[in-house]
Amino acid sequence: MPTVALVSRKGGCGKSTLATNIAAYFAREGAPITLGDLDHQQSMRVWLKRRPSAAPAITGWFGDTHGSVRPTMGASHLVLDTPGGLHGLGLAKVAVVADAILIPVSGSVFDREAASDCWAELRAHPRVVSGRCQVAALGMRLDRRTQAEDVARDWAASIGLPWLCSLRGSQIYVRAVENGLSIFDMPASVTAIDREQWEPLLQWLHEGAFAVPDVDEVPAYARGVPSRLPVSPAVLRVLPRLNPGDAAAFEPIPEKPPAITAFSRFVPRFLRPRSG
Ligand SMILES: Nc1ncnc2c1ncn2[C@@H]1O[C@H](COP(=O)(O)OP(=O)(O)O)[C@@H](O)[C@H]1O
Ligand SMILES: [Mg+2]
Repeated sequence: MPTVALVSRKGGCGKSTLATNIAAYFAREGAPITLGDLDHQQSMRVWLKRRPSAAPAITGWFGDTHGSVRPTMGASHLVLDTPGGLHGLGLAKVAVVADAILIPVSGSVFDREAASDCWAELRAHPRVVSGRCQVAALGMRLDRRTQAEDVARDWAASIGLPWLCSLRGSQIYVRAVENGLSIFDMPASVTAIDREQWEPLLQWLHEGAFAVPDVDEVPAYARGVPSRLPVSPAVLRVLPRLNPGDAAAFEPIPEKPPAITAFSRFVPRFLRPRSG
């Protein structure tokens, strides 16, 4: 299952905000998204509870770094939020399941130092060495083309950590999270700047580990779309009378000619049900 994880040693640098926005973006793209949370604070549960039913559906999954770090079945595309301070075995477990790891950093030197330690651990992991798990950093609450962004970009280059883009600090993110939404669920007119800032990040995810399958290739059950329920033609005949709107949700089971069984051979021909 394609998996992207948000990782940082520091709390408050935007992991959960990014996780909700990535999940909502890909849910809008038609991918069946599971939003996993390894943090005992369970911010994802809070966000999902607030999510309006009209917004594209996202499934929640909750675990912790001591157990399984991803759902064992039933998920297709996973966005994984992780707790601050992740290192050692917990970090290694995430690198085993993730195809992409994103490390958000702000303009603070504390963020950069914590991210350097995290990258030093990750870059030695066999899946990162082999390229099966790609790692990149991005600026969070960092304005583009400022000195702070230059410093962060140079820092990433100096330690060989790919740098994707910077997302500005904006109340739009705070408001979106409050309402169980993402910037991609809000009108394009009020989020135009932010959508443009997201482009390199989304392209990286699209081209890399998080490619979205053609919606038609995803089975209906995985898309959360109810498939048509097979019912016998007799039931189908009375259904429209019960609720005309329901008929489209059912599919007639093709009628099979009655089988000639050893027993039916003893039934006189004129009493046998007609076949064909
Ligand atoms: N780009 C942003 N602009 C404004 N506020 C942000 C932005 N990203 C995160 N925040 C705010 O910063 C705080 C911490 O972010 P959060 O995503 O919870 O970080 P983490 O999960 O790493 O602890 C939250 O209050 C969140 O609303
Ligand atoms: Mg968080």
